[in-house]
Amino acid sequence: MTDTQPATADVVVIGGGLMGRASAWRLAAAGLDVVVVGGETAAAASTVAAGMLAPVTETTFTEEVLLGLNLASMQRYPSFAAEVEQASGLPSGLRAGPTLSIAYDADDAARLATLAAYLGRLGLESSRLTSREARTIEPLLAPTVRAGLLVPGDASCDNRQLLAALTAAGERVGVRAAAGFVHHVASAADRVTGVVLADGTSVSAPTVVLANGAWAGQVTGIPPVPVRPVKGQILRLDPGRFPQPGVVVRAFTRGTEIYLVPRDGGREVVVGATVEELGFDRRVTAGGVYELLRDARLAIPMSTEYVLAEASVGYRPGTPDNAPILGRGVLEGLVLATGHHRNGVLLTPITADVVAELVLHDRVLDVAAPFGPERFDRKRIDRERIDRGRVDPVAAGHREEDRRC
Ligand code: GLY
Repeated sequence: MTDTQPATADVVVIGGGLMGRASAWRLAAAGLDVVVVGGETAAAASTVAAGMLAPVTETTFTEEVLLGLNLASMQRYPSFAAEVEQASGLPSGLRAGPTLSIAYDADDAARLATLAAYLGRLGLESSRLTSREARTIEPLLAPTVRAGLLVPGDASCDNRQLLAALTAAGERVGVRAAAGFVHHVASAADRVTGVVLADGTSVSAPTVVLANGAWAGQVTGIPPVPVRPVKGQILRLDPGRFPQPGVVVRAFTRGTEIYLVPRDGGREVVVGATVEELGFDRRVTAGGVYELLRDARLAIPMSTEYVLAEASVGYRPGTPDNAPILGRGVLEGLVLATGHHRNGVLLTPITADVVAELVLHDRVLDVAAPFGPERFDRKRIDRERIDRGRVDPVAAGHREEDRRC
């Protein structure tokens, strides 16, 4: 161990991405001694994502409970961003909406109309647009675009700027970093006692926050966390002297779906993203890049003039229901804040608040209650169903003595 490697702390945060850094900052600002073990960053969703804040345009059927959490986090964003800027002296990356969803062909238009009707039923604000109206809002759209849907509340945030600002804000209130990767969480008598790193060194702490995104399932010493990496290939285009879109554009293009997210000052347009269940596959493929550029061109022909500045792969942390895991782990002192899948940048403010509330006040925020890890505890779910008389205990594989464990 080097002299500077921390050996003890009040809290160890596993993960140096948005969840880890935002949580660490909040906890250190409240007076705790916090150490972050950063781990993997190159393909972390926090670094690679486009940074859409899209609770409305990204909502899908059957995800109404998640929508509540997404909207609660969106509501916090303006004050959260202002606070981060003040605490760090750096830009937060927040860029106001609206977001414009568009449909390329007739089938895409039917899909957009279905989405608009669904949003209407949920009471979410959006306005349907003709092709002409959509092109008035975003003149770079292809003239052949069929229809649009304007969502005033959805915005974006440059996640790389936000991560830099959160890191700086944390450092200003004393957050320390331990180099390396966590090998396992150490525990004794059902309580965490810290972490052991891959090089054999350890950091002792009574509280451990697991916030390492797609890698959460790889940490041992705790019951397996059901998180899988969902690969996304994503491009960063440099518009140079060419105009860039003024708003975030989400496009249904011949049955596929892409988004183009412009940054302030014409610095870049992020085009994403593939969704691939390939595990930790780091390959940027010709097919992935081709499809993203093809669909970007259908929506915004001007995009072919931009420079292809970066093609990267990131791993969304997916869970069995694709909603985050926020809450206490089975070991005393363990807090889980992972599994944010497609909504990590959006859910950063509320995740930091949930973690702070748990660590500082041992309380679960109401809005986070449906997202505890216990929802994936098969035995517990079966037992509840048995108690309600819905399932035969033998068929569920439980004997009476199991109930006493
Ligand atoms: N939220 C955008 C994505 O996951 O690609």
